[in-house]
Amino acid sequence: IQWFPGHMLETKNQLKSAIARVDALLEVVDARLPLSSSNPFLERIATGKNRIKILNKADIADPEATQAWLEYFNRDMKLPAAAICGTCLQDASRALQSMVSMVDRNKARKTKIMVVGIPNTGKSTILNTLAGRKVAKTGNVPAVTRHQQRTSLKDNIDIYDTPGILWPVIEPRQRGLALAASGAISDTAVDYHEIAHFAAQLLIERYPACLVERYPFLKPFPGEPQALIESVGKARGCLKKGGYVDFQKASQLIIRDLRSGRLGRISFETPKDINIDYDTDQ
Ligand code: GTP
Repeated sequence: IQWFPGHMLETKNQLKSAIARVDALLEVVDARLPLSSSNPFLERIATGKNRIKILNKADIADPEATQAWLEYFNRDMKLPAAAICGTCLQDASRALQSMVSMVDRNKARKTKIMVVGIPNTGKSTILNTLAGRKVAKTGNVPAVTRHQQRTSLKDNIDIYDTPGILWPVIEPRQRGLALAASGAISDTAVDYHEIAHFAAQLLIERYPACLVERYPFLKPFPGEPQALIESVGKARGCLKKGGYVDFQKASQLIIRDLRSGRLGRISFETPKDINIDYDTDQ
């Protein structure tokens, strides 16, 4: 899967030197896919830097999976991690406090914290919550933030918001599909039907109860993705001329339900799924 808007290359080139100038990194990943939404480039350039991994959107992730991820990062990887909901002030402040407590602070000068992460993980949302006002533009499409911007918070803290960056070719395909299903990759880069197929497989295998709750008409319960998409299309009136199911429309509907949390609290991966090499930076 390829999706690499021009400003991302520019940001990537600037990021290394920008990181050297700050005291700490607040890395925002999506709690529903914390590994797939971690940028391998960052792993490489952030060694030795004070860093905390924020598993944001924990309010729509599967709590059990999130707990397993926290143990994985904190205990197994020795990388401080916290799960939060980016719009909750208490959550965001707690994450910031853990971050600040890692820094050997010189009160005479500002503590500089940089928020980094791939598109659409909620970086600007967290910043707005911390600032208590809208300082950064947010939106439910990737790549809303185009330039780095600085916001001064109380306690002599400066926080820098950066545009989300991805890497030019996303592999393996499963990772690309999980990212697309979460909304991190533009919908123009992947076929809706393929994303819905991936999502349907996940839902059938891991979250059948969520499916039945949202789509009570699923009787009998579909055994495979195509049957699920077809049933949803039929029941929700996604039809083409002649009464045939419009798979594109039905796929969009399922993806919208999944992304918004209307299908329940769903995670796309757990630490048990780690069997592929995710270090695919180019
Ligand atoms: P880029 O500008 O693409 O880098 O995005 P960003 O990381 O700054 O993300 P942004 O803050 O624009 O948020 C993306 C979408 O996720 C928006 O629709 C937010 O409302 C939503 N969002 C952010 N944080 C949370 C959260 O904790 N929970 C839920 N449910 N939605 C969130």
